[in-house]
Amino acid sequence: MKKSWDNPIEHAMPDGVRVPASVRIGTVVVAPATVLAPMAGVTDTVFRRFIRNASVFSASPDHASIKDRVTNQASGCGLIMTEFTSADGLARMRESKRKRYLTFYDDEHPIAAQLFGSNPATLADAARIVEETGFDLVDLNLGCPAKRVVSCNGGSGLLRDLPLIETIFRAVRAAVTIPFTVKFRLGWNDNHIVCVPLAKLAEDCGLNAVSLHARTREQGYTGQARWHHIAEVRDAVTIPVIGNGDVRTPEDACALIAKTRCDAIMVGRAAPANPWIFRQIAQYTATGRYDLPTEADRHRMIRTYFEMLLAEASPDAPGSPAADAAGKMKQFASWFTHGVRGGAALRKSIYEARSGGAILEAVDSFFSREATEAAEPEQQRAAEQNPEPAPDQQPLLVEG
Ligand SMILES: Cc1cc2nc3c(=O)[nH]c(=O)nc-3n(C[C@H](O)[C@H](O)[C@H](O)COP(=O)(O)O)c2cc1C
Repeated sequence: MKKSWDNPIEHAMPDGVRVPASVRIGTVVVAPATVLAPMAGVTDTVFRRFIRNASVFSASPDHASIKDRVTNQASGCGLIMTEFTSADGLARMRESKRKRYLTFYDDEHPIAAQLFGSNPATLADAARIVEETGFDLVDLNLGCPAKRVVSCNGGSGLLRDLPLIETIFRAVRAAVTIPFTVKFRLGWNDNHIVCVPLAKLAEDCGLNAVSLHARTREQGYTGQARWHHIAEVRDAVTIPVIGNGDVRTPEDACALIAKTRCDAIMVGRAAPANPWIFRQIAQYTATGRYDLPTEADRHRMIRTYFEMLLAEASPDAPGSPAADAAGKMKQFASWFTHGVRGGAALRKSIYEARSGGAILEAVDSFFSREATEAAEPEQQRAAEQNPEPAPDQQPLLVEG
């Protein structure tokens, strides 16, 4: 899957535009109106909680003391979603195995489970399982471009068959009472753009919101997301529209709102590359400015995530598979280190490490080396400018 963007557009911050404070999806209030996109192999329970925690921002001075479990009341990330899950697989699995796929913790609410498949009855059964498991929303994937999914008519494969989509919508709608949403692409290709009729169909069938990744199936992850189609969908329906595609910064998020008037924004690839993005958006909403992470922030962030992975991999973690924490760390490193100075060296040392513990050591030694190297020229410059401070000019020691 493509992890980078083709010639991304640098948006200027539009004047006076903010990401909405909330959006109501059926009975669920998503506040703020930001969504972590479902990403297979990425948005498991550890990553979702990590992002929700990394997104905490409060304009009040004691926000640093928030140590309790983070809910969407405190986090800049309003809604999280599972990776897509096969409806056929869920229907076939034993209950214990299902739990593994649908694991989430109390502090993940509100949370949506995403399903894919093409059989209306099976999708309806799977949606019932999702509801019984305690998810707040169920989402249908009509966007996945992967061949193995499309070849079974799932994901974006269904975009070529609106009548079948209608049958699925009605079957799932009748099966559950929790809000039901759909995430789709523009259409199969440029000759077959169906986003507006599809959104109208969703509304007619009682779905509670739509998310549009503004690319066709044929585009995959290449080229630009074509946001004007999100605006067309916004004009065509009254249910909430969640805009998705190429949001990398708070500027992009506000530009997407300004250009499409969509009700919420969804962030995918930027989240593992810049896990502060939701916090930055929240800070911008509250104060009109936002902070960029320091090297120390990056160190803390990568360490926190890796420690969470190791904790989840411990055999007594509830519902956990014997997760390959070291493998996940390596995968995350390939996303994250692209923003880090000297990231190639960090990536190399993480790939070469043999265990989770060794990876943590590699991370610590990388950042302490970076900190020393960054401090050296500073100290040198300071020493040259100010060789021997007079006793009354000695710096005050600040504790803590
Ligand atoms: C690694 C990866 C896995 C993805 N898995 C899913 C998925 O399971 N379900 C889904 O609806 N979209 C999936 N997507 C698409 C994203 O949810 C999102 O629509 C897309 O990346 C565009 O948003 P972005 O430009 O913010 O990344 C995936 C994308 C990536 C990069």
